[in-house]
Amino acid sequence: MNITYDYIDGYISSLYSEENPLINEIIKFARERHIPVVCDAAALLLRFLCARERPEKILEVGTAVGCSALMMYYASGCDPKIVTVERNEDMADIAKKNIARAGLENRIEVITADAHEALPMQTGEFDFIFMDAAKGQYLSFLPDLKRLLSPSGLLLCDNVLIRGMVANDALVPHRHKTMTVNMRAFIDAIKNDPTLDFALLSVGDGMLLCQKKRCDI
Ligand SMILES: C[S@@+](CC[C@H](N)C(=O)[O-])C[C@H]1O[C@@H](n2cnc3c(N)ncnc32)[C@H](O)[C@@H]1O
Repeated sequence: MNITYDYIDGYISSLYSEENPLINEIIKFARERHIPVVCDAAALLLRFLCARERPEKILEVGTAVGCSALMMYYASGCDPKIVTVERNEDMADIAKKNIARAGLENRIEVITADAHEALPMQTGEFDFIFMDAAKGQYLSFLPDLKRLLSPSGLLLCDNVLIRGMVANDALVPHRHKTMTVNMRAFIDAIKNDPTLDFALLSVGDGMLLCQKKRCDI
C-alpha cells in the first residue's frame, strides 16, 4: 500500500530516470527478485540531497545489493568515501561485486555485519547518513547515529511511515505492531531531542530528515 495516491506515485515515478546503466541493471535485478531498493520518489530525494550537500563521508545502514550506495556516490559528485553496512551475507556479496564492477571498491566499503555490531566500531564523523535497515530497529541505532553525524551533517531515514501504519493504528496488523510501535518511538525520540531538528516527508514510504541544531545562530 502507498502512503499517497497511486496517481501521485505514478507521476513522480515518471519524472525519475537513471542514466547509469549499471544502476539500472541493479534495480532490474533487485525488482525481479523482490529485493528492496529505494523507490523512485526516495531515489529522487536521495540524489538531490547528495548533489546539494556534496558529502565527503557517507554512512549507509542497509546496503542490500548496493543500489543506493552507488546512487549516493555518483550524485555526490565529489568522489565520497562511503561505508555501508549489510547483515545479509548473500546481499553483501552481491553488493561488493556490483561495487567492484563500478571500480569503486576503494571508495565504497561494504561491512558485512549487523549494524548493532558495526556502528559502535565506527569512529569519526559522517556528513550524510542514510538509514534504510530493519524498520523496527531504528531507535536502537539512534545513539550511534547521533555520535557519527557531523555537526552540519544530514541524517535521512527511509520507510518511517511504514505504509501508513505509523500514522494510523487501524492499518496495523498484529504481526507489525512491535515494528510500528518502535518506529513511533524513534520518531518521538527525534522530536523530543532538544539537540535535533527534523522534518518528516510523505515521500516514498515516508522519509525523515534530521540534523543537529545549529548552535552558531
Ligand atoms: C530496504 S533494504 C536496503 C536497500 C538499499 N538501501 C537500496 O536502496 O539499495 C534493507 C537492507 O537492510 C538490511 N538490514 C536490516 N537490518 C539490518 C541490520 N540491523 N544491520 C545491517 N543490515 C540490516 C537488510 O538485510 C536489507 O538488505
